[in-house]
Amino acid sequence: MERHPRPPLNLCHVDPKSIFINRAHMLVHGAALLILVHYRASFFFAGEASSPDRPTTLAWLILFLGELTLSITWLLHQAFRWRPVSRTAFPERLPGDGELPSIDVLVCTADPDKEPTVAVMNTVISAMALDYPPEKLHVYLSDDSGSPLTLYGMREAYDFARRWLPFCVRHGVKTRCPEAYFSEEEGGSTSEAYESEKQEVKEKYKLFKAHINGYRNRNHSESRDRRQDHPSTIEVIHGNSSDEVVQADQQQMPLLVYVSREKMPSHPHNFKAGALNVLLRVSGVMSNSPYILVLDCDMRCNDPSSARLAMCFHLDPKMSPSLSFVQFPQLFHNISKNDIYDSRIRMPFGTLWYGMDGLQGPLLSGTGFYAKRESLYSKPMQKGATTNLIDLKATFGHSNEFIKQRQRSDKLNKNILDDPGAVCRETKLLASCHYENGTKWGQEVGFMYGSVAEDFFTSLALHCKGWKSAYYCPSRPQFLGASTTNLNDLMVQVTRWNSGLAEVALSRFSPPIYAPWRMSILQSMCYTEIAFFPIYCLPVCCFATVPQICLFNGVPIFPKVSSSLFLVYCFVFLSSLSKHFYEVVQSGHSVRTFINEQRIWMIHSVTTYLYGIINAVLTRIGLRRGSFLPTSKADDDEQTEMYKRGVFDFRTSIVFLAPMVAAVMLSMASFVGGIARVLVLGGWDKLFAQIALSFFILAMGYPVIEGMVRSDKGRIPLSAAIRSALLSLALLLLGSALLVY
Ligand SMILES: *[C@@H]1O[C@H](CO)[C@@H](O)[C@H](O)[C@H]1NC(C)=O
Repeated sequence: MERHPRPPLNLCHVDPKSIFINRAHMLVHGAALLILVHYRASFFFAGEASSPDRPTTLAWLILFLGELTLSITWLLHQAFRWRPVSRTAFPERLPGDGELPSIDVLVCTADPDKEPTVAVMNTVISAMALDYPPEKLHVYLSDDSGSPLTLYGMREAYDFARRWLPFCVRHGVKTRCPEAYFSEEEGGSTSEAYESEKQEVKEKYKLFKAHINGYRNRNHSESRDRRQDHPSTIEVIHGNSSDEVVQADQQQMPLLVYVSREKMPSHPHNFKAGALNVLLRVSGVMSNSPYILVLDCDMRCNDPSSARLAMCFHLDPKMSPSLSFVQFPQLFHNISKNDIYDSRIRMPFGTLWYGMDGLQGPLLSGTGFYAKRESLYSKPMQKGATTNLIDLKATFGHSNEFIKQRQRSDKLNKNILDDPGAVCRETKLLASCHYENGTKWGQEVGFMYGSVAEDFFTSLALHCKGWKSAYYCPSRPQFLGASTTNLNDLMVQVTRWNSGLAEVALSRFSPPIYAPWRMSILQSMCYTEIAFFPIYCLPVCCFATVPQICLFNGVPIFPKVSSSLFLVYCFVFLSSLSKHFYEVVQSGHSVRTFINEQRIWMIHSVTTYLYGIINAVLTRIGLRRGSFLPTSKADDDEQTEMYKRGVFDFRTSIVFLAPMVAAVMLSMASFVGGIARVLVLGGWDKLFAQIALSFFILAMGYPVIEGMVRSDKGRIPLSAAIRSALLSLALLLLGSALLVY
């Protein structure tokens, strides 16, 4: 009997044109870099023909190191450009609802002051409203602060969801996060019945918010110490009211569970990775779904179809056995057109992940991914599952129930219904501080500890174990979050990320050493570049100081304009910029985005990347006591307003201001000094490259210059400008002494 093969659930597209462009560019650009390396290196072998304006060996060497670092990172970066792919999914080809596997949604929140309860509950409700059979959807919220407000909010959210879910299903509502739905009119059916029901639900929603805010106002004296010191609480949510009318609706509801793990000040809590591991275990004895979706509490489901889309990959018979997770892009709903700080972090989601997807797969990106539970439990290089109970306990801890459940997948633990007391005792144990002692949680199984970049570290571990991942970017954003849109918070955040990356780079799992034996060479190049991303501070700091100091003293350090090598330099410079430009445009963005990304990359390189490395090194040698990072203090509304207008808000710590202002000042001084010099003494030819470089930095640093002469609140304060001027003067004097004389 002849049977048609089932049509595929998804397709993977390779764009030959862009692969051709990438590889051709690689070849030409690589050749040009080789010429430049040869030019720099031959300096050391040239005779002693010392002329008065010959640069010192030290200056040459530093610049060479800078260029070499840039060339190596460029080389590593080519792995991302080798074979970018994109994907399409066909959810209509999925098997019937009865055959779909169940999903546990894990949401993390930490602090009800920083993460307003109403917003967190919006995320929870949007996850409950995913288009998936409700009996196969289980939502867990981890509340690290153990706040009664959050627990209360969940009961209210459950009550509201009983009204909200049927409404969404009945009317095919796409935006199922209520706050977003009521604030952005959705088109579509406008029948009278719909309108009147919408009004009714809107009233309910207002009431829901009023209840939570009322509760908060009544209980504002909640103890803050309790947040770091409380026992575990696990509760299956049933709602506050037992409203008869609601009961009549008979909508089946997803399971909703509140989890607050035990916390003790004396016990490391391992941040988000720790919270996620507790959720993995608790959900492991309650619903034990084979797939999990991880969400940050400010990352709402913007479209209900993501679960089915993800299943198009997880249920694909070819991909499924080795597929660990499907990552969706992180997109944000509060990005302005002129995104001056690159708050949308376009680079990974717009370019890099496509590149990795053509290799072994993108990184876990903290939120918005559907992972296979089993892959998170797998030990390194595991051949066949261990069934030895002693081994299992040494790995997963001593909960019999957890181990028993682990071996049966996809069966809702009947005990929840039969014996809630026993399940409750077990989950309390699984969420206690001491449960992980002596086990492999965070080292071999679950989300990895040991770096604040837990998502990077966890995906490194997964890919090293041979798991694959996929990146899927549908045209309608599946998840939308709120991004940081003020410079200070962003710099603190980027420093933290880079510190986490540097921690991994300095650990025994350093990708260039650990990865090449465990994954393809191209994939390990991607990991290496990302882990060493903060190293960009080195070349950028070189290029922001050495040529300027030399220019100020009239010492040429690049080839002269009439030399053919000058053309090679020009080519490399323009070719790097145009490749970046091409990628920005290819991902659907404008010239503006390109300029903003260049600028913010330069700013980060002299500040956050540098501090990230310092922070990681200090942690590594055990010198760091807490973080030296400042926290946000300025007024939010005003900062948001300035961001929207595209004006830099420099209300941040002097630690961040000084290097960038000093770099701009140094370029300004040498630019002016250099121009004066060639006007008076000539030598235009030899110094042109340095004058042009200084000019480029000034042009990119224009907002900084403007920030010093502006008069609003977000300007660079005079005191900071003076201190930066002193810093650049010191650099100039010291640099001149070291590099020139
Ligand atoms: C974006 O969201 C963040 C976090 O909620 C908020 O601080 C910021 O002001 C928002 N920005 C804009 C432009 O709305």
